[in-house]
Amino acid sequence: MSQAQSLPWPPSPLTWPDEPLTDAVVDLDRPTTDDVDRLVLGAGDPETARWIPVPHPYTEADAREFLALVEESAQEGRMLTFALRRTGQAPLCGSVGLHLESRFGEGEIGFWIAPDARGEGLAWRGVRLVARYAVSALGCHRLELLTHPENTASQAVCERAGALREGVRRAGIMREDHGPFDAVVYSLLPEDLDVAS
Ligand SMILES: CC(C)(COP(=O)(O)OP(=O)(O)OC[C@H]1O[C@@H](n2cnc3c(N)ncnc32)[C@H](O)[C@@H]1OP(=O)(O)O)[C@@H](O)C(=O)NCCC(=O)NCCS
Repeated sequence: MSQAQSLPWPPSPLTWPDEPLTDAVVDLDRPTTDDVDRLVLGAGDPETARWIPVPHPYTEADAREFLALVEESAQEGRMLTFALRRTGQAPLCGSVGLHLESRFGEGEIGFWIAPDARGEGLAWRGVRLVARYAVSALGCHRLELLTHPENTASQAVCERAGALREGVRRAGIMREDHGPFDAVVYSLLPEDLDVAS
């Protein structure tokens, strides 16, 4: 067993960096209750609900429950969720979540962008920043992104983020509301991110 493998996995609690992750276009930080209205707008959008299992319709109570879950899952080392904002601006434009898998050193990244912030190339920036944090701060050696075969917007984001399309994982995503469906699998490794693990 290597030294890395003797470290506890997943690391817990998961913590947000002291300063926002930034590439000078987007900032990623800890979501707060100030984000409730924007969460309702973004997570409540039908296009978000089409691809991501969120309550629909999505209420203020759902947003507050989500924020409580964000804190709980970070504390337990399961998931670290970031609010995505335009650099230096407060309104939430989207969300990028890093789910740490039970397999050592592996994580999965999921994301959505609010309808009024789509088409500006914000999502791939968020994916890359979170992936770099996952590698450099948490020791991940592999990050996966799973997309529905028909979600071409999401696939464009993965490719812009520098992820490699690996193939189709049959029945790779399970949704309680309509059962399993195929997933197009993308991956990011440290060498795709110009960051040492
Ligand atoms: C997928 C999503 C995150 C893309 O985010 P984004 O920051 O708008 O991404 P980009 O600006 O790089 O655009 C990506 C693609 O979105 C589509 N797009 C562009 N403008 C758009 C708009 N105003 N509204 C909807 N889709 C748009 C285009 O297909 C674009 O690809 P192209 O530039 O090759 O034509 C966003 O559409 C979204 O939140 N969708 C719903 C949730 C979702 O699918 N999440 C991913 C689950 S795996």
